[in-house]
Amino acid sequence: MGRRNIEPNSILSHRLILPLVCFASCGLVYALLSAVLANSRGRVSEFGRFVEDGAAAENDGGCCRGIQNLELWGAAVKWGSEFKFNDSQGCCNACKAMCSGKDGPCLCDTWVFCGDRKLCGSKFGECWLKKQKDSLAPERQEGAPPGEVVGWTSGLIFGKGEGIIGLETEYGTLHIKLLPDCAPHSVAYILELLALHHCAGCQFYRAESRGQSWDSEGNHIENAAFGPPYALIQGTLEAQGTTFNKLPVEDCPILRRGSVAWIGSGPEFFISLADHSEWKHEYTVFGSVLPEDMHIAEKITTLPTIADVWNHVNVTVLEKPVPLLLRRIQKSHVDEI
Ligand SMILES: *[C@@H]1O[C@H](CO)[C@@H](O)[C@H](O)[C@H]1NC(C)=O
Ligand SMILES: *[C@@H]1O[C@H](CO)[C@@H](O)[C@H](O)[C@H]1NC(C)=O
Repeated sequence: MGRRNIEPNSILSHRLILPLVCFASCGLVYALLSAVLANSRGRVSEFGRFVEDGAAAENDGGCCRGIQNLELWGAAVKWGSEFKFNDSQGCCNACKAMCSGKDGPCLCDTWVFCGDRKLCGSKFGECWLKKQKDSLAPERQEGAPPGEVVGWTSGLIFGKGEGIIGLETEYGTLHIKLLPDCAPHSVAYILELLALHHCAGCQFYRAESRGQSWDSEGNHIENAAFGPPYALIQGTLEAQGTTFNKLPVEDCPILRRGSVAWIGSGPEFFISLADHSEWKHEYTVFGSVLPEDMHIAEKITTLPTIADVWNHVNVTVLEKPVPLLLRRIQKSHVDEI
């Protein structure tokens, strides 16, 4: 039961000391920043205070987050001049209400709310509901002068069959449903990567099976240790030649089998092969692998690995990293999902 004492953060965040996988783009400053962040967040976890850290999970399917000072464009399905709310939550919920069934299809995929009393003036409270031509490439308001701060907050809603991207590997394509209402900044970053059409350097470099600790559905086996192995595949999502800006902490629900989450503020990420309730509310989850594709993640954990120790944590690193690519998928593929 000594495993319980291992800091979840140390299980996941110390691969930067591994020279093998440290790219030219991951400079010393970034490594230091990551270490500092990991440590400060780690201290918090010792006191079990993540709920008060603003990182806690919202209700299942109940997120309504957006990005401040962003005005998304698109065809209006509901004019905001006469449609007002006191907070962005109301506007977001109005957009969600335009999805038929539990979550889609949605007549509205974008909500734009003017919530800054000073910047908005008479527009304060306006809620515009919109539908993008292409929800994976939402349009921004282009008219505003550069540098002007807008009082708008915008969010995306992906209904049934929408917002699914492919994480392509040589072992198959993992379909990932993005969660913009829970992790809007993270999803905006993923959509930027998608638009780049390349992801040079993106790869999985660590793979650990469920071992004797979690069953094939990801449930923890009674009295078993919580790893190692830790039931995850870990990698990086940073395209060479681009500048990566640290991502903020967003919604951090309990990790489920299939959860796709950042380690700290990215670009290191992992896919969880099990329900990791022992890691509490610590990682920003921005997507979820469709269940029928989890065999691809399982396959990756069977590849040859090398044992290593990162900050006193036993890990297994892939002998050959698995390159990955973000791509759009055929719509017909996901119409029924
Ligand atoms: C919004 O705020 C105003 C003023 O505080 C209040 O009168 C009104 O009832 C609120 N509306 C809603 C929908 O909460
Ligand atoms: C890590 O591996 C070493 C060497 O195989 C082993 O002696 C040690 O018990 C392992 N530690 C944990 C926490 O599993």
